[in-house]
Amino acid sequence: MRKAYILTVALFAVAFSLAFASDPDPLQDFCVALKDYSDSKSAVFVNGKFCKDPKLVKAEDFFFEGLNIAGNTDNKVGSNVTTVNVDMLAGLNTLGVSLARIDFAPYGENPPHTHPRGTEILVVAEGTLFVGFVTSNTENRLFTKTLNKGDLFVFPVGLIHFQLNVGKTKAIAISAFSSQNAGVITIANAVFGSNPPINPDVLTKAFQLDKNVVEELQKKFEVDNY
Ligand SMILES: *[C@@H]1O[C@H](CO)[C@@H](O)[C@H](O)[C@H]1NC(C)=O
Repeated sequence: MRKAYILTVALFAVAFSLAFASDPDPLQDFCVALKDYSDSKSAVFVNGKFCKDPKLVKAEDFFFEGLNIAGNTDNKVGSNVTTVNVDMLAGLNTLGVSLARIDFAPYGENPPHTHPRGTEILVVAEGTLFVGFVTSNTENRLFTKTLNKGDLFVFPVGLIHFQLNVGKTKAIAISAFSSQNAGVITIANAVFGSNPPINPDVLTKAFQLDKNVVEELQKKFEVDNY
């Protein structure tokens, strides 16, 4: 009897921890974000953003155009992410999904980064990408794959991952996220390009580098994160 009770409690705990592992489920058919928070007379506050009065919702609230247009990859890393999250597409509010187009110049890279709030599923639309992610500290295990057009790869929520164009031509990928706003932390930018800068002593020890190397890296990332 007591064992059954403990098992039930354990099962509930697991069920609830899974339920809260991604964005909260929507509490109604939709909850279109208000553009302007001051226009809150007819708004109800639900998880994240105010909802627009359903009577005023239009098809345009669920519509976004322009993902056919490539981002400009003429930067240091040779990639460009065009994000379509709740900030660009108000109808995504509370629905727990978003999308991005990633363009790569030949040999361009989307450098190691994490999405704190979302799992990513990426499909290659054009070109060849070498992709991978690293598991957390218990093992720091690396999983990699070379992807061609039509291939998919999953990057579990929170884990550090990257994509490198290993082809001689440009590459395009489309990524979907299990969050209306998955967030992005680019490791090098956050660590060496923070504002204000992290005390070099902290990074010298953490990365086992000479102080002058740390300061050089900080100079590289301080002005322009790309
Ligand atoms: C990405 O492309 C857009 C559109 O061409 C451009 O405005 C933006 O500056 C680019 N971002 C980077 C980091 O190169």
